[in-house]
Amino acid sequence: MEMARKVILDVDPGVDDALALSFALFHPGLDVVAVTAVGGNCSPAQATRNMQAIVEGLDPPRLPRMGAASESEADSGRPAEGRGLYGPDGLGGADLPVAERQHMLPAEKVICDQVRAAPDAITIVALGPLTNIARAFQRDPELPSLVGRVVIAGGAVAVSGNYTAAAEFNIHCDPVAAQAVFRSASTKTLIPLDVTNRITLSYDLFNQLPDESTRVGALLRKILPSAFRGYRQRFGIEGIHVHDTITLMAVLYPELFMAQEMAGNVETMGELTTGMTVFDRRRIPSRQYNMEVAMDLEKEKVIEKIIRGLNSAAGREEASAE
Ligand code: RIB
Ligand code: CA
Repeated sequence: MEMARKVILDVDPGVDDALALSFALFHPGLDVVAVTAVGGNCSPAQATRNMQAIVEGLDPPRLPRMGAASESEADSGRPAEGRGLYGPDGLGGADLPVAERQHMLPAEKVICDQVRAAPDAITIVALGPLTNIARAFQRDPELPSLVGRVVIAGGAVAVSGNYTAAAEFNIHCDPVAAQAVFRSASTKTLIPLDVTNRITLSYDLFNQLPDESTRVGALLRKILPSAFRGYRQRFGIEGIHVHDTITLMAVLYPELFMAQEMAGNVETMGELTTGMTVFDRRRIPSRQYNMEVAMDLEKEKVIEKIIRGLNSAAGREEASAE
């Protein structure tokens, strides 16, 4: 059997992030060495709390290191509840229990330590604003070349944004950080809205989830209704997008995604365009290609993998009780 891929999951939970965590923490193809929190869907303090509650509640076979979110300058211009798509606490008021914790290192320190401990072997899966990744790169300037790959949920190439007309939420939250990561010497894959918007999960999802008696099933059944509510109210659709989970699928099953090399940048100011991702798609771009960008996916196969993965995650819960 192939060796499990070492990943750090950087999350701003967020129902979408919680779904991705439920999937990843039990997947035999992934060795989740750390989970780090960042403000986005909710405040940094709430994101840390949510991350801890989700990881502890799911109680995976191998407990990852955890890194705490800290306030960033980018947070100051944003409402405290972040996007508010999943309610002010990011999880639809789920109020998950969390154990007291003595001490959690800052997210960027955990990222630096883990990458240094396994040079070239770690994939950072960035499922929230890029604040922590940019800070880690700033803290340790050699880090970009020591990371195996950074896979980013965010941006939009040829479709409109999902937070403003021009910008996708994760990039919009901290465009300066996103620009720094885009410009860094790391190997990057971007999973933009162009692909993640192609999948809408309907209410039928509830018939396909693991049942209430499992930890994964109980968590998802508790928090997913708020996502459906958010999408109905905010976007007028009877279904949800799962950008973060699809990004994780691109890490596990790259063969189901069609990607191309591009020269990508981020607009950091602009009255209407802050956080917009800009790709030079001219025949001869003025800048070098700096990332691989997924532009299409095998929709039905990806959906099937998501549902199957969640059910096997629930099936594997027992292992962690031993
Ligand atoms: O734009 C997609 C992002 O925003 C995802 O990371 C998800 O968490 C959502 O809130
Ligand atoms: Ca997210």
